[in-house]
Amino acid sequence: MSLVDSKSILLEAVKGKYAVGAFNINNMEILQSVIDAAVDRRSPALIQVTEGAIEYAGMDYLVAMVKTAVLKLKIPFALHLDHGKRLEIVEACIKAGFTSVMIDGSFLPFEENVALTRKVVDLSRSRQVSVEAEIGRLMGIEDDISVDKKEASLTDPQEAKRFVEETGIDALAVAVGTSHGAYKFKSEAKLDYDRIEAIQKLTGIPLVLHGASSVDPEVVNKATKYGAELQGARGVPPESIKKAISKGICKINIDTDLRLTFTAAIRKILAIDPSIFDPRKIIGPAREAMSEIIKFKMDLFGSSGRVR
Ligand code: G3H
Ligand code: 13P
Ligand code: ZN
Repeated sequence: MSLVDSKSILLEAVKGKYAVGAFNINNMEILQSVIDAAVDRRSPALIQVTEGAIEYAGMDYLVAMVKTAVLKLKIPFALHLDHGKRLEIVEACIKAGFTSVMIDGSFLPFEENVALTRKVVDLSRSRQVSVEAEIGRLMGIEDDISVDKKEASLTDPQEAKRFVEETGIDALAVAVGTSHGAYKFKSEAKLDYDRIEAIQKLTGIPLVLHGASSVDPEVVNKATKYGAELQGARGVPPESIKKAISKGICKINIDTDLRLTFTAAIRKILAIDPSIFDPRKIIGPAREAMSEIIKFKMDLFGSSGRVR
């Protein structure tokens, strides 16, 4: 089937009280691992790309690959722009055939974020393209950030309500304690579940958790065993993800876990078999490993088996 908008996928998830994974892809193998897992699990999925992915692989290549991949399948997939920061990139993606875009104005003052987001909503409405936006800011574990400052970066529920009313977006990315990358927490993961619940009650639209990778210690150990340097890497454990879903999260962004899985598999194969030099034998196992991790996520998020 053709690509569908993300709104329809996420509204089903809200109804069914589960979440859908949004997986970042940068090349054919990552895309195939998402497709393979979704087919195996009969799960909807969002395939997302950043501006960086577009620069790396090329817009035409990415869109053609995704359209080709989904065409013969009876599973709903959306093609989503992740963290679009400018109107121009949103326009280019819509023109190229994306069915969903994120406009990330979280770095702007509130009113400017509203104005930019509104422009994207106006642009997308007539084209059946869904819009995600963000308020609040995801922060990492930088030493120089005080607790007060970190708290102030989290999404304010009242502000979220106003933002949704004034923009008409379809999904809202919230800052509730997670951050991008492999170093999310210094010790235990801490998510503000009450905040998720409050935002959900006040806005009533699908909520998105960015920075949601679990940074599985087993994968980190495997990568480290074969030479990676990942000291202090820590993510959001599966039980925290489950709790976040129960409070209202229904889109979950995963990139780092795919990167780590890819790296660990490639390091291993090159280390254990120094005689190989066929790219298919090097990247193939990484593709399989990513597919396995995505299946695990689909089971965890509750999206497995939702496509009849
Ligand atoms: O937030 C999204 C990604 O994890 C960062 O991806 O390196 O393609 O910009 P990027
Ligand atoms: P991770 O870095 O935790 O995978 O988050 C990815 C993300 O939020 C992409 O938008
Ligand atoms: Zn993100």
